[in-house]
Amino acid sequence: MKIRKAVFPVAGLGTRVLPATKAMPKEMLTIVDRPLIQYVVDEAKEAGIEHFVFVTGRNKGAIEDHFDRQFELDETLKARGKKAEMDLLAQFQPEAGAMSFTRQQAPLGLGHAVWCARDIVGDEPFAVVLPDELVLNTPGCLKQMMQAAEKLGPKSNVVAVEAVPDDMTHNYGICGVGQRHGEGKGSVFEIDGMVEKPPKGTAPSNLSITGRYILQPEIFKILETQERGAGGEIQLTDAMIGLSKSQKFYGLEFEGERHDCGSRAGFLRANIAFGMTRPDLRDGLRAEMKKHLGA
Ligand code: G1P
Repeated sequence: MKIRKAVFPVAGLGTRVLPATKAMPKEMLTIVDRPLIQYVVDEAKEAGIEHFVFVTGRNKGAIEDHFDRQFELDETLKARGKKAEMDLLAQFQPEAGAMSFTRQQAPLGLGHAVWCARDIVGDEPFAVVLPDELVLNTPGCLKQMMQAAEKLGPKSNVVAVEAVPDDMTHNYGICGVGQRHGEGKGSVFEIDGMVEKPPKGTAPSNLSITGRYILQPEIFKILETQERGAGGEIQLTDAMIGLSKSQKFYGLEFEGERHDCGSRAGFLRANIAFGMTRPDLRDGLRAEMKKHLGA
């Protein structure tokens, strides 16, 4: 069954990058010249997603505005003959009716945020994409997951994973590794157990869940009664553990460089990495970095 909808949980407060996110949604932080949310929407579009579901919260209005038309801007650009800028905006303009917004009224965790999208998603498989995490690659991470999902049986769930250093596993959802279908980047394995933020020294592997999921709609029923887990929050990972008793879960070791843009260091690194892919910026950026390195 085609995966048409993607859920973007965007209600988080962005406390890891204060004060930048005091009055601005963290999803509007800019990597080079585009807000984070634009990158993940483009990634989903590339993967064939047709409907974009945002689970927002208070002070997140800028996200909705970003995907709307900006009448004054459009008119001014037109009057001034700024064709290149008009084309740029047109390229990012979603089709009317292709986006839905719902609110998570209290910060109860990722699992609860996804559950808030249940009526909009309905009874079909869907993707979840966390905008904090950007993956630099063509094809994008979600497209790689879609391609992997096509080869797996019906009612399969797919989670993007990446190896992290052993002393970092306590920050993530971690997957146990069952039967492998191939080795290394681009390969898929059956997930044998998952744990959200395992205490240091207890992780079943070093393969972390990276914020891209393809899930079956049965997850919503489980989320409805899911108890609070790690950090006192309703965790998506815990609901996936529940669903894994009746459906298969696969991990995809995707191709590409992952950036956690919800942290200061990750955000800076992502700006450099994405900036260096831009022919119009690369040389200037390299020269500037050399200067600061004293090289
Ligand atoms: C969430 C998920 C976790 C995953 C992480 C990836 O955690 O619960 O399983 O590894 O995203 O970024 P959070 O970062 O919201 O604490």
